[in-house]
Amino acid sequence: MPSLKSLLGFNQDEEEIPFGMSWIVEILQHVIPTRTYVENFLKWGASHIIGIDSNENMIELCKSKFEGDSKLEFHVHSAIDMPYNEEFDLATSLFALQFMENFNELEKTLTNIQKALKPGGEFLAFVPHGRPDIHFTDEAGKKFGAYLKPASHPPPDGSRVKIIFYDKEEIIGDADATFFYVETYERLLRKAGFSKIEWIEPYIEPKFIAKYGEEFFQCIKDPPRDLLLYAIKG
Ligand SMILES: C[S@@+](CC[C@H](N)C(=O)[O-])C[C@H]1O[C@@H](n2cnc3c(N)ncnc32)[C@H](O)[C@@H]1O
Repeated sequence: MPSLKSLLGFNQDEEEIPFGMSWIVEILQHVIPTRTYVENFLKWGASHIIGIDSNENMIELCKSKFEGDSKLEFHVHSAIDMPYNEEFDLATSLFALQFMENFNELEKTLTNIQKALKPGGEFLAFVPHGRPDIHFTDEAGKKFGAYLKPASHPPPDGSRVKIIFYDKEEIIGDADATFFYVETYERLLRKAGFSKIEWIEPYIEPKFIAKYGEEFFQCIKDPPRDLLLYAIKG
């Protein structure tokens, strides 16, 4: 599989942009993001993909969606105690690290991810932008399906927050999560054995700006409410 970094083409002229704000497009289209990521990884040459989630329903959903593809495996595992050892070129965590309950769980998870990667392996994660001065608003929830609601402002590092889920203007549920500062992710990534840590700001594909207008996206940018984290083992 080619280096993920080489695939992170942020060329806005391209018809199809593999990362960046493409997830927002998927949310707008009410498509489960996992589907497209898996398909992209297969397209880019992944020979084998293992997906884990601690939630049995999520794994059943993935199994039924990708039934019969021998390159794919899905298992119920917590990231806190998953068993893999130097097996993977690439690990991804898409909006999942914030569900670790505290610093200790985040450290265990990052250590397990590092252990699962081959030397030089790459790690990519989507996480909420861990900056205390950002205002997360319900406008973003109503437009994009979910937003992070801190108990107080500014939210302390490691504080518990709620993720509020919407279907259009209606709240349809919530989940407990943790607000980790960017510095905490970096400290624990280094402690786990990662280097070359980068934070990549998403952008919105021009065709969606053309469709919805700049103003529509203002509630999730400047600064961006989510970031792409990229790190290399070793
Ligand atoms: C917002 S969803 C993202 C799902 C998927 N990554 C995607 O992009 O569609 C967060 C997922 O993290 C899972 N999760 C939470 N804590 C976990 C843990 N300790 N180990 C593994 N998965 C966990 C939840 O069950 C949930 O499916």
